[in-house]
Amino acid sequence: LLHDLQVAWTVDSTNAELLRCSAPQRGVSVLLAERQTGGRGRRGRTWASPLAAHVYLSVLRLFEGGLGRLAGLSLVAGVAVAEALHDLGYAQAQLKWPNDVLVDGRKLVGLLAEGGGEYAGPARAVIGIGINVHMPPAFAEQITQPWVDLDTLAGASVDRNTVVAAVLARLLPALEEFDREGLAPFLPRYAAFDMLAGREVRVQLDGQWQHGTALGLADDGALRVDIDGRERLLHAGEVSVRKA
Ligand code: BTN
Repeated sequence: LLHDLQVAWTVDSTNAELLRCSAPQRGVSVLLAERQTGGRGRRGRTWASPLAAHVYLSVLRLFEGGLGRLAGLSLVAGVAVAEALHDLGYAQAQLKWPNDVLVDGRKLVGLLAEGGGEYAGPARAVIGIGINVHMPPAFAEQITQPWVDLDTLAGASVDRNTVVAAVLARLLPALEEFDREGLAPFLPRYAAFDMLAGREVRVQLDGQWQHGTALGLADDGALRVDIDGRERLLHAGEVSVRKA
């Protein structure tokens, strides 16, 4: 399952660095960094990545079936991370579509799946995972959305190696399974952590914000939303939970 694993001191972004490498024919390449100078978030945002504070991890793998599978891939990675956190005793970790891991509405983990260039044949894909472990106060002030870190949840200083080992123990078999069987085996596993199911949400559809009720995932990983009694599918975009 594992082709190689490297720990860098500083990189611009573990995702960007792996996208510059060629993928192994078998297994995955894993890159961890102590610090990122240009950490990337979703939707062109940056991901603050201070030295030795958090986990910055990316994996590179070839996938059959082309880059159309990237959306499914990030759902699978989210399931694997949520399962790893539960293994470690963080039973409150939940998934918010498409792929944030939250605890009580506060973001703990961000995931970013990116595809590798104009590869013909099997697609190269990188999945980047940023896990908040101990947030330095100077960085905390800059984050505009609600967040939480593992130290706060554990009430102690959490060892990053233990977290990485638990994540890889879930992620590497999950990627093999996804390559072989697609998204189907992950849909019930996702449902176990789905924080949106049954809740009132705001979603962007047809270029505007609309209100509805989240209904879980469709077979292709889209978010099913009931809007005025009609089921709609959201393939990409942002969702926010409506306050009661
Ligand atoms: C998000 O916006 O929620 C996604 C954040 C993803 C951050 C991780 S940290 C490791 C990897 N390298 C990056 O540059 N980004 C991802």
